[in-house]
Amino acid sequence: MSNNNRLRIAIQKGGRLSKDCQDLLKQLGVKLNLREQRLIAHSTNMPIDVLRVRDDDIPGLVMDGVCDLGIVGENVLVEVQAERQRQGVQSEVTKLSKLDFGYCRLALAWPQELGKQDKSWFEGKRIATTYPEILTQYLKREGINASTVMLTGSVEVAPRAGLADAICDLVSTGATLEANGLMQGDTILESNACLIQNKDLQDANKLALINKLMPRLRGVRQAKE
Ligand code: PRP
Ligand code: ZN
Ligand code: MG
Repeated sequence: MSNNNRLRIAIQKGGRLSKDCQDLLKQLGVKLNLREQRLIAHSTNMPIDVLRVRDDDIPGLVMDGVCDLGIVGENVLVEVQAERQRQGVQSEVTKLSKLDFGYCRLALAWPQELGKQDKSWFEGKRIATTYPEILTQYLKREGINASTVMLTGSVEVAPRAGLADAICDLVSTGATLEANGLMQGDTILESNACLIQNKDLQDANKLALINKLMPRLRGVRQAKE
């Protein structure tokens, strides 16, 4: 059973960060019994429960104190923070550490056959994205009048499907853009995975456990340098 005395860490269930998150926990000495399809995994050697959820849900779970810690891409964190700020709800977290995996960039892209384009091309266009807040802020900053089409997945097929003129999506290796005949434009945000903590966490035992794990995390990060 899980209870409130155990430190709760949210990680991505299936996706780009999952494997690295599991490896990191192992390197920190957290022994887990990770069985497929389980939402919660209990550590067998520390008072820690690991919740495996959708990456988009991680910032909110930590902001609301449902989880004490979370490992999430800065891209998702920035997007959720902007959305919550707009709604006037709690959007702060304590950033404990940047992590050395999950690097990607949020970039604009459009059909390759259109060739190179500059910012003015986006005027009046529709841009599909999973990051409407970050994209809207960028468009505002650049003075571009374009509309956003929110898609939670398959963003890269939107132009071909006639849902949008261009996209704003994460690029890691570039393989997805290439496979879909898209040309990469401006980078709007660069992102890494990071470790976040609920900003109101006060439980002394949990804080002591975090204090025990942080030097280990620094050791793991230094060993990689
Ligand atoms: C991102 C993005 C692309 C892919 C790009 O998805 O949406 O699908 O990665 O990577 P590539 O440049 O190496 O081909 P992500 O893995 O973050 O999953 P999600 O969109 O389901 O959260
Ligand atoms: Zn996602
Ligand atoms: Mg994707």
